[in-house]
Amino acid sequence: DNASLKAIRGPYLTFVDDPFLTGDTTALHYEPDGLILIENGVIAAAGDFQANRGQLRGHEVDHYADALILPGFIDTHVHYPQTQMIGAYGKQLIDWLNQYTFVTEQQFADAGHAASVADFFLGECLRAGTTTAAVYCTVHPQSVDAFFEAAGRRRLRMIAGKVLMDRNAPAALTDTAQSGYDDSEALIRRWHGRGRLSYAITPRFAPSCSPQQLEAAAALWKRYPEAYMQTHIAENKHELAWVKSLYPGQRNYLDVYAHYGLTGPRAIFGHAIHLEEAEWRHLAESGSAVSHCPTSNSFLGSGLFDFSRAKDPAQPLRLGLATDVGAGTSLSMLQTMGAAYKIGQLGHYSLSPAKAFYLATRGAAQALYLEDRIGSIAPGMEADLLVLDLKSTPLIAFRMEHCQNIEEALFVQMTMGDDRATKAVYVAGELAYST
Ligand code: GUN
Ligand code: ZN
Repeated sequence: DNASLKAIRGPYLTFVDDPFLTGDTTALHYEPDGLILIENGVIAAAGDFQANRGQLRGHEVDHYADALILPGFIDTHVHYPQTQMIGAYGKQLIDWLNQYTFVTEQQFADAGHAASVADFFLGECLRAGTTTAAVYCTVHPQSVDAFFEAAGRRRLRMIAGKVLMDRNAPAALTDTAQSGYDDSEALIRRWHGRGRLSYAITPRFAPSCSPQQLEAAAALWKRYPEAYMQTHIAENKHELAWVKSLYPGQRNYLDVYAHYGLTGPRAIFGHAIHLEEAEWRHLAESGSAVSHCPTSNSFLGSGLFDFSRAKDPAQPLRLGLATDVGAGTSLSMLQTMGAAYKIGQLGHYSLSPAKAFYLATRGAAQALYLEDRIGSIAPGMEADLLVLDLKSTPLIAFRMEHCQNIEEALFVQMTMGDDRATKAVYVAGELAYST
């Protein structure tokens, strides 16, 4: 019975190294006529079609001649409950949270509402070619159950957690240091490591967490060190001033988290715009990861991300791209790469197409300490794959006729492409979406 054997043929692209360190040409591997052999949801072999066709045996072949196969995209920071409030007009971070976010998130006390939004969100992730994400739920444990149930049904590799917030929010959205700890622990026991699901301890950000709550979050992480820890940092200047007034004893924003033990491997910090040199150094040295959220940062007027410092070859840190929906304006990682390029340009940094695609695939996987499982097309990797239609609109098709090489083609895709470019998505080797 060959039911678990599958093969995908077509041009494919993957990364064999970090282009920020080795250069784009060395890091990027393009196979113009590739063959990817999949067994039991895992890539068994990948390479040139002619060289590998002898291994085909009983594999059933899906052939995508006029497309580009990529590792499924990875979104390292997104809020599924905010799917229903993308594009809320006219505010910067703190007002936006109070006026829109904290109103919307109250609806997730209703498990039925959470289940339907979670399912819609995951469908939209697949439509955008995203197969893994680090996801914020709401303060309600049922919002986490709903999300993991939906993700588990689709066999997606997903990271998520219950938001911890015990102050500076409506009473209906707050927990306490103790209840937040207890609820999170129960969720870790229920979900962490179940199939492809992982738990992230999720203190929302320093202004919505008391010192006792950050202490409890750190104690929980110490008890379950294989779990993730995700939060926001240095997104907005007013937020910075607020953190300074709430935590006057700490030297800087990161120091608030570091003081409690909330930095290190599998810590994921969203935004990281307004950082001091000491914070960059600590992030890199502790093995923490940063999520750059370009569409969100421009939508909320938060500021410009410093690519040069983040990926300084002398001290590079683990960096991934992220949509940050609903402050982000799209779930498409192509759109997010295009926005990252434009943000870079404003700071006189021209993000190359190879680096942008890296930050949405292998780089993001490295940020999440998952580079041995996802983010590349190579033997042993879980077969989460995206098939891109490189001619998804008449204008893109016309423009593509004038592309001379793969890097130009990638740049046109990230500048003009969106979810219409998703031709097919495979999750653990199974076709999960196609047009
Ligand atoms: N900081 C704290 N919470 C949030 C949130 O939901 N979105 C964004 N963009 N920043 C935050
Ligand atoms: Zn966020």
